[in-house]
Amino acid sequence: MKRLLILGSTGSIGIQALDVVSRAGDAFELVGLSAGTGHEALVAQAREHGVGRIALASRDAAALAEEAWTAGEVLAGSEGLIQLVAESGADLVLNAIVGSAGLGPTIVALTEGVDVALANKESLVVGGELVTALAEATGAQLIPIDSEHTALHHLLTGEPPGVVEKLIITASGGPFRGRKDLEHVTVEQALAHPTWRMGGKITIDSATLMNKGLEVMEAHHLFGTPYDRIDVVVHPQSIVHALVQLCDGSTKAHMGYPDMRVAIGYALHHPDRADLPIRPLDLVELGRLEFEAPDTGAFPCLRLAREAAVAGGTAPCALNAANEVAVHAFLNGRLSFTGIPAVIEGVLEQLGSQRVHSFETLYIVDSEARRLAGELIAVHA
Ligand SMILES: NC(=O)c1ccc[n+]([C@@H]2O[C@H](COP(=O)([O-])OP(=O)(O)OC[C@H]3O[C@@H](n4cnc5c(N)ncnc54)[C@H](OP(=O)(O)O)[C@@H]3O)[C@@H](O)[C@H]2O)c1
Repeated sequence: MKRLLILGSTGSIGIQALDVVSRAGDAFELVGLSAGTGHEALVAQAREHGVGRIALASRDAAALAEEAWTAGEVLAGSEGLIQLVAESGADLVLNAIVGSAGLGPTIVALTEGVDVALANKESLVVGGELVTALAEATGAQLIPIDSEHTALHHLLTGEPPGVVEKLIITASGGPFRGRKDLEHVTVEQALAHPTWRMGGKITIDSATLMNKGLEVMEAHHLFGTPYDRIDVVVHPQSIVHALVQLCDGSTKAHMGYPDMRVAIGYALHHPDRADLPIRPLDLVELGRLEFEAPDTGAFPCLRLAREAAVAGGTAPCALNAANEVAVHAFLNGRLSFTGIPAVIEGVLEQLGSQRVHSFETLYIVDSEARRLAGELIAVHA
């Protein structure tokens, strides 16, 4: 039985992870769950799954959970989250927290030598080199939960070093694929993703194509592939998740209907396979699959992410923080859709890139980028 801790269990990935766990018989023992503010949902999950320890990032929410639930222990604040990870005795931590708030728990799990099933791509975008070096030093494994990176992990397994020419990840193109006039699009339109049902932040990142930029960085850090060997192709059907081109002229593709339980099952059961009720692929029914180049003119976030990735150092951290603040402002009606890349570009111009000496450097840049993004949003509003 694997001892499993799920962080961000009340979110889109967290809920699907609990579904995968429920279908796995006695393969997993759940040793803890966490959320940001959603205390009612978290307490309901703890009751349903017989979990003895939970954590809420919001101290107010934790106090309310403590009143409602006396059958276990409630930890509070970011320190509570860290304590939950450090004392969990878990064999595997599934990190499905959204945003750079997920970095601290990833660091603690890896420091303890615990394997991490990582949905929180921001951990790698922000902490890239330091996170992967930490995993190497402690021997803990990082197993991705992202359809493209799960596909790449799959496709690269068994390939010897030096044979891979290129990694290609696909993007659905989001709800605004093919459009140029994006100034006045609404939050509702941006949240209407054509192929995936996900949390709010990643859905907006998919609409701006920032998500693909973050994923290019995620692939770079996970697989050690240089940026000029990672391509993005728009594929509106979201059936082919990633491809790997090899030195002998062959190209391998990973395919399947869009269902995150495939990626979650892969990471939780790795190196074994989960038996999941996923519809088998029917190519005849699909009929055709389309591919096109991304439009980085209409969707500048992909260009900005690539530029920050190549600049390296603190630039990806600043880009991520500015993006989180800008997306939040867009969702709250304080910034236009096209204001998102404008704010990010402004932050990157002002902060540039410095060398990363420690995680402390990243926390300082994260908070400086958030402050600057807030100022620029006030200007753009
Ligand atoms: N959804 C997908 O299909 C998908 C696919 C690939 C990768 N991912 C990645 O997986 C991660 C989670 O995405 P999601 O779509 O599941 O997000 P989501 O639905 O918004 O859920 C986020 C989870 O994180 C918790 N949380 C929010 N802020 C927090 C904070 N400051 N401290 C601690 N916990 C916090 C939330 O708790 P509350 O419920 O209390 O807010 C919730 O449990 C993201 O990094 C995303 O890029 C998601």
